[in-house]
Amino acid sequence: MADIKVPVEPFRIKVVEPIRQVTRRERETLLKQSGFNIFGIPAEKVTIDLLTDSGTSAMSDDQWAGIMSGDESYAGARNFFHLEESVRSIFGFSHVIPTHQGRAAERLLFGSIVKKGDSVPNNIHFDTTRANIEILEARAENMAAAAAYDPDANQPFKGDMDAAKLKKFIDKRGVERIPLVMMTVTNNSGGGQPVSLKNIKETSEVCAHYGIPFFFDACRFAENAFFIKKREKAYAKKSVLEIAQEMFSYADGATMSGKKDALVNIGGFITLDDDALAEKIKNLLIISEGFPTYGGLAGRDLEAMARGLKEGLDEDYLEHRTAQVAYLGGLLDQAGVPVFKPFGGHAVYILADRFLPHIRRAQYPGWALTVALYREFGIRAVEIGGVMFGQKTGKGKEEVYPELEMVRLAIPRRVYTASHLRYVADSLIELHKNRDKVRGLRIVRESPFLRHFTAQLEEI
Ligand code: F0G
Repeated sequence: MADIKVPVEPFRIKVVEPIRQVTRRERETLLKQSGFNIFGIPAEKVTIDLLTDSGTSAMSDDQWAGIMSGDESYAGARNFFHLEESVRSIFGFSHVIPTHQGRAAERLLFGSIVKKGDSVPNNIHFDTTRANIEILEARAENMAAAAAYDPDANQPFKGDMDAAKLKKFIDKRGVERIPLVMMTVTNNSGGGQPVSLKNIKETSEVCAHYGIPFFFDACRFAENAFFIKKREKAYAKKSVLEIAQEMFSYADGATMSGKKDALVNIGGFITLDDDALAEKIKNLLIISEGFPTYGGLAGRDLEAMARGLKEGLDEDYLEHRTAQVAYLGGLLDQAGVPVFKPFGGHAVYILADRFLPHIRRAQYPGWALTVALYREFGIRAVEIGGVMFGQKTGKGKEEVYPELEMVRLAIPRRVYTASHLRYVADSLIELHKNRDKVRGLRIVRESPFLRHFTAQLEEI
C-alpha cells in the first residue's frame, strides 16, 4: 500500500470548541424527527460536521482582532474601505458591493440583467445560482466539458467549460437571450474541480467575441488559483495572488461568497467595472441588503472578510488545505471506497451509486448514504445528487436525475485535524463493508425550490 502523507496543520490551536458524544439511539430518534433529512439535525448532535465548507471556517487571531475594530456607522464605515482595497487588490474591478452572502450577490446581479426567457450558461451551476435564475423564469445551462461528468478521468482541470459547446449554444440561442456567462471556480457541483487559466482565457474570448459579459462565481478562487500553480506548467513560478489577478483580468466581474475562500462565517460581494450595472445593483441592494457600504453586514464582518481574503491566498495554508482533501480521499480510495478523482479543492466526493449499487436512483442512494453516515458514526455530509438536482421534466413528469450521484464530504477550513479526518475515513470504510444494510428512501414532502433543505423522507 502506498504511504499516504499526514498533512501537518500549519497553525496552532488557540481556542477550542468541545465536540459532545451522541449515542446511536439518540441519532436514530433525531433522524426520525428530522424526516430523514440531515439539514434538520441540531449541529450539537453531530460529531464531525462535513455538511459544508461554507461559513464554517475558523478565523485567525488577526481576523478576530479585526472584529474588535468594527466601525458600526451606517454609511461609509472604515471597514468598507478596507474591504474595497482588499477586493480591488485581488480582483482588480472598480466597484465593490458587499452583500450578506453569495446568493444575495447572485440575486442582485441576475435581478439586474436577467429577463424571463433568457439563458445563463455556466460550467456547472451551483444550486443557488440555478435557483436565482429559475426564479426569474430564465434557464440555467450547464456547459462543462465531458470530463466533468467522468469520475474516473484523470485530468487536471475537470472544471473546464466546453468553449466550443458554449459558442454553438450562443449561435443557436441568440446573443440577445444571453445576458451573461458565468464560470464557477472551483466547480463545486462537479467534484470541486478546478478550471485552467487556458480555459478561462478561451471562455473569455468567446464572450468577448459576442459582447456578452463574463462573470465568475468566485467562491473558491484561491483554491482554483493554487491548482493552476500546481498543475498548469506556465504558472508554476507565479504566486497564487498573481494567478488570481490574471484569472480575474479576463472577466467583467464576479459574485463571491466570502464564506468560502475569504475565511469568514458570513459575507459576500459583487465586484465589477460597469458603472451603469453597478448603479442598478446598488439600487436593488438598498431594498433588501441595506446601504451599499455594508450590504447586510456589520462593520466587523466587513473587516474580517477584508483580512480573510488575503489570508485565503497564503500558500502554506493552501498547501495544507488541498493536502487535507487529498489525505482523506487517498485513505478512502486505497480502501476501495468509490470516490471522484482527482481530488478537488474543498471536499471529497463519494460516488454514492457505486457505493450502494443495490439502491436505484429513484430511491436516492446519495441521500441514503448521508442518513447511514449520521446514524452509524455521527458524521454529517451532503447529498449532491437526485434529491438536490432531480427535476420532474420526464415525459410523464417523472423525475430526471443528474449525471452524478454523489455525497460530498466538505472540509471546513482550519477546523479539523488529520486525526478527525482519519476517523471519517475509518467510518466510511467500515460502512462500505456493511453497505448491504443501507436502505433507500422516498420523498414524502418537498418544496418547489431547493427542496433538499427541507424535504421530508421515509425509508423503504
Ligand atoms: N456558488 C457556489 C459555487 C457555492 O458553492 C455557493 C455556496 C454559493 C454560490 C452561494 O453562496 O452560501 O454564501 O449564499 N455553497 C455552499 C456549499 C452552501 O455548501 O457548497 P452562499
